[in-house]
Amino acid sequence: MKYAFASRTGNVESIIDRLGLTDEALRIESGAETIDEEFIIFTYTDGFGDTPMEVEDFLAVNGDLLKGVVVSGDTSYGEAYCQAGDNIAEAYNVPVLYKVENDGTDEDITAIADVIK
Ligand SMILES: Cc1cc2nc3c(=O)[nH]c(=O)nc-3n(C[C@H](O)[C@H](O)[C@H](O)COP(=O)(O)O)c2cc1C
Repeated sequence: MKYAFASRTGNVESIIDRLGLTDEALRIESGAETIDEEFIIFTYTDGFGDTPMEVEDFLAVNGDLLKGVVVSGDTSYGEAYCQAGDNIAEAYNVPVLYKVENDGTDEDITAIADVIK
């Protein structure tokens, strides 16, 4: 399984680092990146419940290989909490594997490590 992630202010990047995936995970920056194996995506939530644009662009090309989504958000956004993950899950018919607040706690990291196995 491969991993791809998008991070604007560093929270998702920190999660990837703490999972020990820094070397193997593909960082999505422009959205023009490509991946050639089944993958799990890690994303933040933008706007009000929006999928980041670079993630939308990346999935438009690579979404056939997507197996699941781990999504970060902030509970202060209320009903839009982590909604990027729900958007992606619906559009690509994959599960939301985990919703995590900002960069997550140590318990979150352990739980994510379990669920992405
Ligand atoms: C402009 C902006 C909009 C955001 N909108 C949402 C949102 O709608 N829902 C949510 O759960 N979190 C929202 N967030 C919180 C981020 O998704 C969250 O802090 C995430 O951990 C950021 O990840 P990153 O540091 O890897 O970019 C927003 C943050 C910013 C700065």
